[in-house]
Amino acid sequence: MSPFKFAIGDNAKRSSALKNTMTHQQPIGVFDSGIGGLTVLKELLGRLPGESFVYFGDTARVPYGTKSADAVKRFTRESVRLLLGRGVKMVVIACNTASSEVLPAFESEFTVPIVGVIEPGVRAAVAATQRRRIGVIGTPGTIRSGAYQSKIMARLPDAVVIPQACPLFVPLVEEGWIDTPVTRLVAREYLRVYEKADIDALVLGCTHYPLLKPVIADVVGEKVALVDSAVETAREVSRVLAERGIAGTGGGGEFHIVLSDTSPSFGDIATRFLGRRVPDIELVSVV
Ligand code: DGL
Repeated sequence: MSPFKFAIGDNAKRSSALKNTMTHQQPIGVFDSGIGGLTVLKELLGRLPGESFVYFGDTARVPYGTKSADAVKRFTRESVRLLLGRGVKMVVIACNTASSEVLPAFESEFTVPIVGVIEPGVRAAVAATQRRRIGVIGTPGTIRSGAYQSKIMARLPDAVVIPQACPLFVPLVEEGWIDTPVTRLVAREYLRVYEKADIDALVLGCTHYPLLKPVIADVVGEKVALVDSAVETAREVSRVLAERGIAGTGGGGEFHIVLSDTSPSFGDIATRFLGRRVPDIELVSVV
């Protein structure tokens, strides 16, 4: 029997097999405006031990959530290209603001699969609510886009969805003010809207917000399920890798962090949050 997998002359199959072997070993790109995408990276590292990752945080231009849709689109396109330049086989847009402004348009613009966090977040919200009264918190950009509101209503037409933008949460997290009296005061102010709203699920519609979970949980109370899209996003990534036949074949578990500007607290928060040593952080210029 021939030791070769494909018969002589079967060039198309052979080159696609070679391409796939290369693809299997390529890293997955994970992108956020700053530190928030680490909440997704953590789930990806846990769920996909055979994969390695390149994380790009656009710290020079964070926050995205208060910028115009055009600016977010431009920044996100440049960031995806930067990751493609690193040879990634897939890009996870671990940023709700960017996902809500660029998907699904980017899915056809790039040849690698692009996975966002909104759809997975919506699935998690629909699974978490019983009474169909759902709060959605996010950046001004995400809330303005109406992405969560419309996608939840498409699945649960009789749901009551109460959105609330929380612009100060992102700078607090980037600053490392995860649980301070100021953070609690800001949370109480923003989340006051849910005091009498009788919600049973609150979507953390920004990848920075899971870092504030303890504070948010204290303010809204234990009866409200906090919905974090990271777990569902990692599931989606795993599904797409399998569907495209590009899953890593082992030797993964590594990650490399690239930022567009120095960020004094990034290394510390990343080490604490990921619970592992963060390798040297690389700085790049995006433009
Ligand atoms: N972490 C991001 C999100 O999920 C973006 C925060 C920002 O840059 O404003 O929306």
